Amino acid sequence: MSPPHEISHLARVELLSPKPQETLDFFTKFLGMYVSHREGQSVFLRGYEDPYQWSLKITESANAGMGHAALRTSSADALERRVQSLSNDTSTEGAWHEDEFGFGKNYRYKSPDGHTLDIVWEAEHYKAPPELQSKILTRASKKPLQGIPVKRIDHLNLMSSDVTAVKQSFERHLGFRTTERVVDGEIEIGAWMSSNILGHEVATMRDMTGGHGKMHHVAFFYGNAQHNIDAAEMFRDHDIVIEAGPDTHGITQGQFLYVFEPGGNRIELFGEPGYLHLQPDLETKTWLMSDIDTGLAVGGAKLPWETYFTYGTPSPLSVAEHQKEFSNAGPAAEAAEERVPDEIDTSRAVADSPIDVFSDAR
Ligand SMILES: [Fe+2]
Ligand SMILES: [Fe+2]
Repeated sequence: MSPPHEISHLARVELLSPKPQETLDFFTKFLGMYVSHREGQSVFLRGYEDPYQWSLKITESANAGMGHAALRTSSADALERRVQSLSNDTSTEGAWHEDEFGFGKNYRYKSPDGHTLDIVWEAEHYKAPPELQSKILTRASKKPLQGIPVKRIDHLNLMSSDVTAVKQSFERHLGFRTTERVVDGEIEIGAWMSSNILGHEVATMRDMTGGHGKMHHVAFFYGNAQHNIDAAEMFRDHDIVIEAGPDTHGITQGQFLYVFEPGGNRIELFGEPGYLHLQPDLETKTWLMSDIDTGLAVGGAKLPWETYFTYGTPSPLSVAEHQKEFSNAGPAAEAAEERVPDEIDTSRAVADSPIDVFSDAR
């Protein structure tokens, strides 16, 4: 187990998009993010309280997904120590690179499930030009007059084939604490992890399709429940697909609204930040499946099986195709199937296949 607080926070995420202009419009027009830089096929953006040159990079790509995510360490020494820990793990390969705008040297490695992660110390602070300077000194730039602007990047949720392996990698090498987890019998199907007082900067949930290394969502911070409600109205009016919310998770107590940006990546808007973990001797809370409804949504919002538990990016299917493909799958469909008595089941099987039964007669 690594010492705590060697990682400060989630600094940035790169999203890949097959519809880069529409994805860019989503983040600038609806979420009020500023463009800070353009380079090749990438555009760099930041929320008005993001401290660095960028927190979001949108890169044109054949498929949606996460290019990489980067965590900033608490010092240059902490970076060296974390890299040493990762290097000692023979199952993890990594390498230094220095090619991210606004940041110094980054150490890039793969999570046990294949997600691309960077850790970095050197970061250039954003200095607003005079016309964008806020009179509120802790605010890196003026609140924009556009859409319903997010303050900053908040957290990342990774889909994993093996939640425990990904969780242990964050605990062992980066000093994350697991604040909450969900178990289904003996199997961990979700873990929420933090390196500071937030409920989580990184979470990982089981990919129910058995996939590896996908992104579930990246979240941006409002800090205000009403903004999630206002954003839902804005998205509804402008045909952005809302998946679930606004509601409040029992897990983390965070307020959520999930939407799909036009490129296909799931984005969460985070209202109030939820429970803050101030105590150093935190005890991990374990949710059982019997209490999962409270864990997922206190107000009873349904997180749809056909997307929430099965869709991540990259995805071979678009959101709409995936929804269709998975609409008759999942625990509810299986439970309904089990409720059908055998004799009816048999007769229905016959009734369902008239072509086979009568094919000889045709
Ligand atoms: Fe989230
Ligand atoms: Fe959430």
